[in-house]
Amino acid sequence: MGNKTLSGRHIVLGITGGIAAYKSVSLLRLLVKAGAEVQVVITPAGKEFITPVTLSALSGRPVVSEFFTANTGEWHSHVDLGLWADLMVIAPATASTIAKMANGVADNMLVTTYLSAKEHVMVAPAMDLDMFAHPSTTRNLRQLEADGVEIIAPAAGELASHLVGKGRMEEPENIFARIEAFFNSREDLKGVRVAITAGPTYEKIDPVRFIGNYSSGKMGFAIAEECARRGADVSLICGPCSLDVKHPSIKRIDVESAVEMLEAAKREFADAEVGIFSAAVADYRPAKSESSKIKREGTSGMTLELVKNPDIAAEIGASKKPGTILVGFALETDNEKSNAAHKLEKKNLDMVVLNSLKDKGAGFRCDTNKISIVLRDGEILDFPLKSKREVAADIIDGIVELRSGRRRVKDV
Ligand code: C5P
Repeated sequence: MGNKTLSGRHIVLGITGGIAAYKSVSLLRLLVKAGAEVQVVITPAGKEFITPVTLSALSGRPVVSEFFTANTGEWHSHVDLGLWADLMVIAPATASTIAKMANGVADNMLVTTYLSAKEHVMVAPAMDLDMFAHPSTTRNLRQLEADGVEIIAPAAGELASHLVGKGRMEEPENIFARIEAFFNSREDLKGVRVAITAGPTYEKIDPVRFIGNYSSGKMGFAIAEECARRGADVSLICGPCSLDVKHPSIKRIDVESAVEMLEAAKREFADAEVGIFSAAVADYRPAKSESSKIKREGTSGMTLELVKNPDIAAEIGASKKPGTILVGFALETDNEKSNAAHKLEKKNLDMVVLNSLKDKGAGFRCDTNKISIVLRDGEILDFPLKSKREVAADIIDGIVELRSGRRRVKDV
């Protein structure tokens, strides 16, 4: 199931044309075993040393090398890859690739991906000792360091040329440890208890029918995974949805109705330091649910009597403990921002995430969302359309900022 630090992390593993490429296979194996999702990008010269078949079999993803797949003409977007990656690791990095990276010579997929990478980049040089000691290599590595790239210095030892000296790529286990240390250092919710509601609720009419809604749970699950990746212990209370939990730090509690969700929330939110209400809870439920299937025969129509469901966010908000951060969602069609601000007050929340219904690609069932964050201090942060994973990261950045005391939270 993977380890807590690397589970679900997106890593681009860049492989270049050096003999140490065979060691990248071990690194890839370690990363995949730890639960990371690894996309291999290999230079044309890299393929002379190690076959893409081995790499795609181990990573479970087609290896990317060219801008286009020759037979299908499919274009590989280096921009998408750069955005997808939580980390890019180039191991081994030859003198040539290091020089191209230092100077922005984007003549292959690997260097263009590097230029598009938004997150951290690590480089593990591997070359002969004289090449490594050459002033141009030293200069280029210094430049990369100045650009914020982390250099995993090569070790000294016997080289492929049988010469002995510095230039041997660091061992895969040590590169793996550096990767783990990098992600560990970013765990800004380490040990924090987070409770989340997600998905729809189903309100039973009879054994085969219910009142429900289109919520897929994707946003809540993305938040749960991101919290867990950032070190939190997460309780995820979810209504009926077909998604899987990936991270080992997420405890999943399946419920069906709003009443069941409230019961679970009372338990799970009791000692949570952060509570996030992303579920699309049905506002009403049938006054009574039939134990047998309702028949059509002998009726010309039917009226269903509905009663109001509990407001889970408001109930938990009413007994909020000092220091707890509570976050709600709002989906409004009119006066969005003032309604969201009102909800913040009424439900005793610290942040309301406003989903747009007007923008294409936002809201139910999509993989993308466009949000605004409404805060107690009156500030409203507008974000562009992003993947739900990136939206989750923005929301959690906001929560971390509230926890740090840099912003005002609700006084209790
Ligand atoms: O009042 P409204 O339904 O617009 O509020 C939305 C917010 O309140 C969401 O965070 C949702 O998860 C939460 N909510 C709830 N229980 C309800 C209705 C909404 O927790 N019965």
